[in-house]
Amino acid sequence: MKKKYSDESEIQRDIVKHLNSSNKQTFNFEITPHDFDIIDTILKIFIETKIQGHAPSQLIYAIVKKKKQGCVNFLGLANIDEIRFYKAPSKNKMEKFAKEIDPTFSRSPSGVNNKENNIKAFKLIGKPWRIYTYEGNLDLSKLIKEVLITEENYDYFEKLLKKYNIDPMFYLTYIADILENQLRIRVNSEGRIYNEKTFEPYHNKNIKQGNVIDNLDKYGGYKPIKNIPDKRLFEMLCIKKGSLTKIKQHILQNLSITIKRSKGHFFTKKEISENISKIIKEKVKPDYIIEPYVGAGALIVPFLENYQGVGNDNNSKLIEPLRIEYSEYDWVFTCKHGWKYSTEEYIKLWNISKDKNNLIYFNPPFGTTATNLSVSKKDEIKNGKKSRKIKIDYANLGDTYGRGDLVIPAIGRMIEIIKKIGSGYLAFFCPAGIMFGRIRYYKVLKALLQDFEFIEGHICDGNNFKGVASKKSIAFTIWKYHKNINTDINSLVFKVKDNKFIKLKKMVLLKNGWKYSTGYIKGELAVQRNERFNTPLPKGFYMNISKGGSELIPENVKIDLCIQNVPSELAYGLWSTCVGYRSITNYPNYIDNAYIHLPDFSKQKISEILAYLVIHALISELIRNYCKEKIGFDGLSRKFKFGNKTITNGAKHLIDTYGYCKIGNKTIIEVFNELKEEPNIENINKDYRKLIKKEIEKRLETIGYWDYIPIPKVLGRQKKKKYL
Ligand SMILES: C[S@@+](CC[C@H](N)C(=O)[O-])C[C@H]1O[C@@H](n2cnc3c(N)ncnc32)[C@H](O)[C@@H]1O
Repeated sequence: MKKKYSDESEIQRDIVKHLNSSNKQTFNFEITPHDFDIIDTILKIFIETKIQGHAPSQLIYAIVKKKKQGCVNFLGLANIDEIRFYKAPSKNKMEKFAKEIDPTFSRSPSGVNNKENNIKAFKLIGKPWRIYTYEGNLDLSKLIKEVLITEENYDYFEKLLKKYNIDPMFYLTYIADILENQLRIRVNSEGRIYNEKTFEPYHNKNIKQGNVIDNLDKYGGYKPIKNIPDKRLFEMLCIKKGSLTKIKQHILQNLSITIKRSKGHFFTKKEISENISKIIKEKVKPDYIIEPYVGAGALIVPFLENYQGVGNDNNSKLIEPLRIEYSEYDWVFTCKHGWKYSTEEYIKLWNISKDKNNLIYFNPPFGTTATNLSVSKKDEIKNGKKSRKIKIDYANLGDTYGRGDLVIPAIGRMIEIIKKIGSGYLAFFCPAGIMFGRIRYYKVLKALLQDFEFIEGHICDGNNFKGVASKKSIAFTIWKYHKNINTDINSLVFKVKDNKFIKLKKMVLLKNGWKYSTGYIKGELAVQRNERFNTPLPKGFYMNISKGGSELIPENVKIDLCIQNVPSELAYGLWSTCVGYRSITNYPNYIDNAYIHLPDFSKQKISEILAYLVIHALISELIRNYCKEKIGFDGLSRKFKFGNKTITNGAKHLIDTYGYCKIGNKTIIEVFNELKEEPNIENINKDYRKLIKKEIEKRLETIGYWDYIPIPKVLGRQKKKKYL
């Protein structure tokens, strides 16, 4: 059925077409607009349609009014989501019902369709023979007491659950073993759900998990179900185990991004977990696997069959379905906070023994305490303010492993466990920045390098994980415990896209040479901060920078680049617009989380890039005028200016010296002169900036700018700032 219908005749046509064509049982439904909506005269089925809701009183009244009560087998109540079929009550009962409404039958059938009459009609027709959600085969020869919730029809039932404020995650678990154990759900006269066999009432919280229910009202935290058709439907709902996890995953994916972030709910997609499982089977050959942040089980699925293990998650809504679905495997599921207890407690809880080859394999919750408007998604921004503060419980791990991201204690505890056991492997996904020496995470990296051998590394794009932006880079690494091994960071190699391997390399970073965020002091031309490739703000030259950035002045230079005729502040400024997120050029995803490195400024290709950057900035400024005419052409003589006199001279030097470089079929100097002579930027070729971008990207490739992942020369937070 379609999602929307404007009138009943349209939905009737679709229902007739659907019923007559897609079922094993042969139906001969037709529309009879003047008497009833739809009838199969051979099988004696009378259907009343409404776009929404049900009208049983109208149907029975019409049948009696038209004197058809002796020839009805089934009554049908159809709407956009379902058709409910009922065994027709006896002729006498229908007559009695209709006469009570109007003994003279002077009223029209549609005129008797009201709430009161429908309640009476529902009582008369009793339980449905079959509720058909327009899926699968319809066969009315057998009574079907269940309505199966499937991935396809879930959205419809979700509406029903929401109507009564019932939490789908708990409810689906509650009804998960109905089919297998032949149980029955009942809704009592107060509208409360209970299990007919066990008398277990339904609560919107999982009390089995030890959660307190004091804060729930005594009825279980949902609205009573008084509406008869809904009651009947609840009594028939069930779900197959196989659908349970899939539907739960679907629900989690649709949780608002804010909830997901606060819980670190970003899930690994199937393809990647399958590929990684092959590597683990080959390289680790584990006897026992511990998945401390198991979520919906994506990582463990390839290991269920032939491996033993334990899956943990602090979210009982996720753990319960795993317990049910994977009960036949050699896996245990626990529902505990993943790092706040002592290392010994986890070893006991997860039954980790020293004589096994243990692997702790996980994709931990990620999430920083940062509140940054420019990286917030729409629904995280309330009244123009971002709301992304996450409160993190570091347990006793903050001093050893650092602070500032959920992932830090989440990995820290696992390192502690392996160290305590004295052998075993860690294999985990994490923001790639952890492996690239990002200051916030360096204590985690240091702990790994100190006592673990690096076995394997991959960098994956964020789109392999549900809810992660594709540009984000996620590292997967395998580490083997080896006390005091002191792994050299330069030995870390990562497999990236297209079967390429990338190594880390200590390099001079932009942030080492340039004070990238001093704010606005002297009224000089300024450039946006750009210390990491994923620094979110748009890169360019501005005046009045409020969100970080610094002026092109010698005071902001920490390392003199010694480029002839080009002041270092100009070179740093230009480089800040050249690479990284929302800069002039694109960059390979694997580098997204790294700090920006400096190129070798003595190379001619780099000087050419600087010249391209000047002309790019000039065109951008003539279009946007962000720098209050600090960049452009001055006065009648149209004198070139690029900030103050010193940097203007440097910029002019670059244009003059590397003016031969091509921009399409022109050169830099030709384009420069064109800009100088043509005061109206509208008349300038719109493609110049695209062509410049291409030329710069070509040169970055040629000089091997992307060949290594840059890491700081000295890891960790430095007390002495100038160490070079
Ligand atoms: C990134 S998801 C990974 C799920 C799954 N391993 C996967 O790869 O699809 C992280 C999981 O950690 C769970 N989690 C968040 N905080 C936790 C905590 N403090 N203790 C245990 N689990 C936690 C979340 O419920 C979520 O299922």
